[in-house]
Amino acid sequence: MNNIKIGNVTLEQSAALAPMAGVADKSYRLMCREYGAAYTVSEMVSAKGICYSDKKTAELCTITEGERPMGIQLFGSEPDFMAEAVKIVLEYNPDIIDINMGCPVPKVVNTGAGSALMRNPVLAAEITEAAVKAAGNVPVTVKIRSGWSADTLNAMEMAKAVEYAGAAAVAVHGRTRDQFYSGTADYSVIKAVKDAVKIPVIGNGDVTDGKSCLRMYRETGCDLVMVGRGSYGNPFIFEEIRAALEGRAYTPPTVEEKMQIMLRHIRLMLENSKKTEEYAIHEARKHAAWYMNGYYGSAKFRGRCYTLASYEEAEKLADEFAELQRNILHKNQLKNSLNMTNG
Ligand SMILES: Cc1cc2nc3c(=O)[nH]c(=O)nc-3n(C[C@H](O)[C@H](O)[C@H](O)COP(=O)(O)O)c2cc1C
Repeated sequence: MNNIKIGNVTLEQSAALAPMAGVADKSYRLMCREYGAAYTVSEMVSAKGICYSDKKTAELCTITEGERPMGIQLFGSEPDFMAEAVKIVLEYNPDIIDINMGCPVPKVVNTGAGSALMRNPVLAAEITEAAVKAAGNVPVTVKIRSGWSADTLNAMEMAKAVEYAGAAAVAVHGRTRDQFYSGTADYSVIKAVKDAVKIPVIGNGDVTDGKSCLRMYRETGCDLVMVGRGSYGNPFIFEEIRAALEGRAYTPPTVEEKMQIMLRHIRLMLENSKKTEEYAIHEARKHAAWYMNGYYGSAKFRGRCYTLASYEEAEKLADEFAELQRNILHKNQLKNSLNMTNG
């Protein structure tokens, strides 16, 4: 496996876990690192929130060794607040500081942060410059989209602006702000960014398995791939990607193994939760449902995941699910053997 360098940080050139607020929390990042994610990023943290010493915001910044190399992602629209926030989060010793210039949600965009900055490359550069100055030796990266809308695809201009301001790498999600998460990611824009700048380019959008990761590398020439939703209930995607990059065969986990991994993920969520067990289980519901995706009868089980109220219930559901899948497999094997003897 090759390595790449972002500033003074060496990363394996496989695939990184994308920042995902409300999804990629500490437990999620630990799971993904365990299965080979090259790098993880915190959920987005408000620069202003951290400056006003918001306790909840600070909790998002804590880093354990198992999550490293890890970046802390900040969003904000004012250079001064960004610089102040960078100084504060340096206390958490991040490997990288990332600035969010891609978030499409109105709550963020209406403050002039996230993808609103795609419409203001000068301010984007000023924010980056302020962060770079405050960060000292810690590299600052910027995550952008392809543009605000289909008729304003300016990722190349944005990438050049933040490179000039001192960014050590740029991550490009190949969708416009207008697209939110619909449609498909445009890899030609990521390639155009790669051709436009000298700093490493991280390609992001629609990578869901080893094959699509190879496609992202091939079509964009990017230096690193970043995976978001493809890791839902699927932290093993990073193992699959490493196998694909090394030309090795990959055997996915069996349904029994998957259920054990799901339970481990839930246990981690319980251990890491700063809130009640009830709250942690509530948070774990969507993850449990994702682990059951794509199997026969999974719709019914996924519905049941959304009523989970305790770890014991999760264990019971995992057993039932694995047994159903075993029975289906057995039935299919019987059918096949009968077909063979009849044929
Ligand atoms: C639930 C969710 C939360 C997200 N939160 C963030 C965030 O906090 N910061 C950020 O830069 N991008 C965020 N994103 C965008 C992802 O990092 C990524 O750019 C996007 O999902 C496209 O990649 P994918 O097709 O691999 O999912 C989020 C995406 C989702 C689905």
